[in-house]
Amino acid sequence: MAGPLKVGIVGVGQRGLQHVEHLSRLQAEEEVRLVALADPFPENLEEQSIQSRAPAYRQGDATLYGSAGEMLREADLDAVWFVIPPNQHGGEIEIAAERGIAIFAEKPQTLFYDEAASQAEAIRRAGVLSTAGFQMRYEPWYVALREYTADKAVTSITMVHAGGIEGHGVKYTHTETMGGPGNRMWTANREWSGSSVVEAGIHQTDLMRYWTHDEIDWVQAAYVERDPSLHESEGDNPTAYTVVYGFKRGAVANLIFTRPARVYLNERYDYVLTTHSQVKFEDDLVAYGYVGDTYPPADRPDASEVRQVLARGPQGDPMGGANSLELDRRFVEAVAQNRPDLLKNTFESSLNSLAAVLAANVSHELNGERIHLEEFTTGERFARYRARPDKS
Ligand SMILES: NC(=O)c1ccc[n+]([C@@H]2O[C@H](COP(=O)([O-])OP(=O)(O)OC[C@H]3O[C@@H](n4cnc5c(N)ncnc54)[C@H](O)[C@@H]3O)[C@@H](O)[C@H]2O)c1
Repeated sequence: MAGPLKVGIVGVGQRGLQHVEHLSRLQAEEEVRLVALADPFPENLEEQSIQSRAPAYRQGDATLYGSAGEMLREADLDAVWFVIPPNQHGGEIEIAAERGIAIFAEKPQTLFYDEAASQAEAIRRAGVLSTAGFQMRYEPWYVALREYTADKAVTSITMVHAGGIEGHGVKYTHTETMGGPGNRMWTANREWSGSSVVEAGIHQTDLMRYWTHDEIDWVQAAYVERDPSLHESEGDNPTAYTVVYGFKRGAVANLIFTRPARVYLNERYDYVLTTHSQVKFEDDLVAYGYVGDTYPPADRPDASEVRQVLARGPQGDPMGGANSLELDRRFVEAVAQNRPDLLKNTFESSLNSLAAVLAANVSHELNGERIHLEEFTTGERFARYRARPDKS
């Protein structure tokens, strides 16, 4: 490819600003040229306001657009980042793919599986490179864990994500003018976010696939609904989620996800069990498992004797800027060099993570019924759950 990659961003909000910062840094390294930004709210495109969150940004000769459609019609782009609320897609990913533009889609790609399938089909047909915004796949400890499990069978994973609804930060979509929540916290709203498991728990769900080297086969879920008297102040998403995933090769995983109000605590616990070892996140990333040739050993070993360090601490922030920058950098390199092998996922390969969280909602609605993703994604019985609701 001659010269730096020409890139654009659709949606310059909380997450879009992080991509603006990363792409501006990559522009300073002459890897890209940030040629276009699109957002329907002009104040989100003001240079000073962008710089307050993305200090490396200079508007320069970047063109600003009021809609994705206008940008895709007019700008000369090699790659585009879609960073909008997941219920706001309107065929733009398909148009970008048809125009031969590589696609970076933030997670969750959409709230409606039929729409995701249509986006994936357009990307496949056009043969453009694509990826989805799962930065934890670039986290060094998680990469080490994936390498450790490569020649093992993961049997179970327990993930507990204890987080509060206050953790959502500033949002830039003017939902108050769009029939959405008056306080812009669309992530706490069921209709806009899909649920917290769809909007946020998709990260953990995707990580489970990353560590098992496997695909999710079925889902069962039970949520604790938030009391309606709290919807006005806290949003209408559930306060607690228990989701069980069954994997194709037999592993079972639990995702326990909490979103209480007033609890200013964010913690993760992850336990990964393989046939003969237990992986634990301590000050270092460690695996406990006896690796001697003869089993059982003559003398019962102490835990410290079967302890193997997989990665040294301290661990960085898995969701943080370093891994997101790496994700952006890798996508830029993959597109510039036409090297799909540099990517850790594609739009299409991420569909299983999306289907799993969308089906978790359905399982909860059907009182914990086991939902097989094959049937969820293709069966007539689930057609109404896959389609965008008709508001006419
Ligand atoms: N990977 C991550 O860690 C991560 C973190 C935060 C958000 N996200 C994802 O990024 C996406 C955006 O979230 P956010 O937190 O930035 O929300 P946000 O509301 O802060 O920003 C969204 C931006 O998109 C704009 N927008 C809305 N509809 C649009 C449309 N049709 N065309 C063009 N622009 C439009 C809004 O004006 C706003 O500026 C979501 O899918 C979210 O789940 C990912």
